[in-house]
Amino acid sequence: MKPLKYYFKKAYKEKFAIGQFNFSTFEQVKGIVAAAQNLKSPIILGTSEGESKFVGLQEAVALRNVLRNKTGLPIFLNLDHGKSFDYLKKAIAAGYDMVHFDGSKLPLEENIKISSQVAKYAKWRSVVVEGEVGRFGTDASRLYTEKFEIKEENLTKPEEAKQYLHMANVDVLAVSVGTFHGLDVSGASPHIRLEKLQEINAIGVPLVLHGGSGTPEEDIRKAIQSGIVKININTESRVAFSHTLRKTLEANKEEITPYKYLQDSVQAVQQVVEEKIKLFGSNNRI
Ligand code: G3H
Ligand code: ZN
Repeated sequence: MKPLKYYFKKAYKEKFAIGQFNFSTFEQVKGIVAAAQNLKSPIILGTSEGESKFVGLQEAVALRNVLRNKTGLPIFLNLDHGKSFDYLKKAIAAGYDMVHFDGSKLPLEENIKISSQVAKYAKWRSVVVEGEVGRFGTDASRLYTEKFEIKEENLTKPEEAKQYLHMANVDVLAVSVGTFHGLDVSGASPHIRLEKLQEINAIGVPLVLHGGSGTPEEDIRKAIQSGIVKININTESRVAFSHTLRKTLEANKEEITPYKYLQDSVQAVQQVVEEKIKLFGSNNRI
């Protein structure tokens, strides 16, 4: 199986993106992997610190190993939005393929310092590193009933991205260019600032888009043409899983058998992931 770095390079050159789909249950993973299998796509399974503490770092790695061996698919595991070097070390020790150091809340110098340490430590162990400059304004991937306002000061400043990439040897960089974590239920999703993204892409390092849920498809397509090689999706998958489960349990109040009432949710996640894989263009790329 080719390494994740190979797929990022291929995506950057051939202008497609690899989806990272977060999970905290086995059923979500079943849906994600079934979609990747159907569409012959590389896939990144993501766990935030909270999700990984619920699942267990070793358990997440064991799940990846079993599914990778069973399907033969390039399935990769990323520790998403890691806030501490120590915790990233634990994920690396457990066997994660990739770690994301999220230093976006730190002063740039501090972010650069720790990112450099993470990059050195991880690369020595052939683990891919994602850095981050610019904030997404929200931590939780949840539903927003009020309109979500992007604060301009949170957006990635190209000169800061340049300074960061000059000092911290990360493989890919998460940038804040108009997306946010979560879904604005009014449907309004702030558009991607394409010129800003293109200015950052000129630096020549592959980029990551967070807050993929709810982002207009046309924006996603243009972002992929401007250096985005990885797109994170969590809320849309959580909504598919949870709303389907709620509906199924409501409609079958007597049902107590998990493998029966969870099947619809697995399929709902699979459907979201298949739509995203086709939109990102990573189908038939293995
Ligand atoms: O890191 C995870 C993603 O950025 C999730 O964003 O919930 O808006 O899809 P999303
Ligand atoms: Zn994110």
